[in-house]
Amino acid sequence: MRHEFFSSNIICCIVLRPELGEKYFKPFPQGLRPGKSRALIAGTKAPTPEQPEYYRKLPRRFSELRRNTTRRALDSFPNLAVYVTNSAHGFFTRHALTKPKILSTRPLFPAARAVLDRNFEVDYWTPAERITREELLKRVADKDGLVCLLTEKVDEELLARAPKLRIAATVSVGYDNIDVAACTRHKVAATNTPGVLDDTTADFAWTLLMAIARRLLEGDAWMRSGTWPGWDLDQLVGGDVWGKTLGVLGFGRIGRGVARRASGFNMRVLYSDAVRAPEDVERELHAEFVDRDRLFRESDFISLHVPLLPDTRHLISRENLEKMKRTAFLVNTSRGPVVDEAALAEALENKKIAGAALDVYEHEPLVNPALLGRRDVILTPHIASASLDTRTKMAVMAAENVVALFEGRRPPNALNADALGLK
Ligand code: GLV
Repeated sequence: MRHEFFSSNIICCIVLRPELGEKYFKPFPQGLRPGKSRALIAGTKAPTPEQPEYYRKLPRRFSELRRNTTRRALDSFPNLAVYVTNSAHGFFTRHALTKPKILSTRPLFPAARAVLDRNFEVDYWTPAERITREELLKRVADKDGLVCLLTEKVDEELLARAPKLRIAATVSVGYDNIDVAACTRHKVAATNTPGVLDDTTADFAWTLLMAIARRLLEGDAWMRSGTWPGWDLDQLVGGDVWGKTLGVLGFGRIGRGVARRASGFNMRVLYSDAVRAPEDVERELHAEFVDRDRLFRESDFISLHVPLLPDTRHLISRENLEKMKRTAFLVNTSRGPVVDEAALAEALENKKIAGAALDVYEHEPLVNPALLGRRDVILTPHIASASLDTRTKMAVMAAENVVALFEGRRPPNALNADALGLK
């Protein structure tokens, strides 16, 4: 249908320039906002002197477009929303909006759907099963934007199959599922959802830390088994949390959130990160910057909050596990491959550490079978940010990034905005 519009010689495609004033936006039902949208007027007919002032002021690049308005030419404008009017009836007398096409690999939450549906033609993947790679590649082929989850890889192959794609918005703060450099090469903006999940994730890391130290799930299982004989002095004795030493590996927003929670438990906080935090942050959180080696050796709890990078893959290695106290616990709410699961299982088996609580896995959705039967391990299904409020905020944020791009604004959470020259 769109193709027909653009191949017809009586069609003018109109996108207004905000600086030209509000009055020219009035004929349009929705979509463009004065002061926010990028502007362009293009059509197959040359402008006449009677046509409005703004038309004649168009930059040369747009004039060229007027002479030869092909779909390809229109696609070359990164911030183009397309209105179509029939010039035979005069400007603005008839118009139709062609909305950009978006693929969302999940139905998302209603608040996020509302944002997308107002602005786009959206293809939601609704079956309960995850979208297969094959289906993803098929559906994304004609899309202008993609809203995806951390389980979908946006890589060279996908980008090559989606020539119209202009944005890939992952509903996650971690973006190791997105090849940002490849996106930049394909002129695709990549966005994530930072900030909105920090406290929810820190809460969950804290939940795991408390649960593994105090043997919560073992107690729960015992009660449900119907075999608890009643109180006794040495039943399920665990480790104390209060007053102990917490080691935070990765001192970004979430790591700091965990450190903040530790102060309520009168804990000493050590942290390690590629970059030292400002002095006032260290003071507020009573956190001491140490090298990794010291953190491994002195911590009673180690909580992981690093992104997955070549330098952090298998950061929890056999060698580093050896450095930990035999009484120490490990908590991972970051990314699975930060932990060498086989080495962890071995360390637990040999009592090199006291326990581990994992929310993420090296090969999700699989878990190393050596961990499955262990009572000194808590396993949760990658739910650290899973409160309804937070997951909704994440989805809305991804949707708003997509809207921003198509309105000609810089998506607030673009990972490659500078590389793409997005303003
Ligand atoms: C979840 O793991 C996220 O990165 O948001």
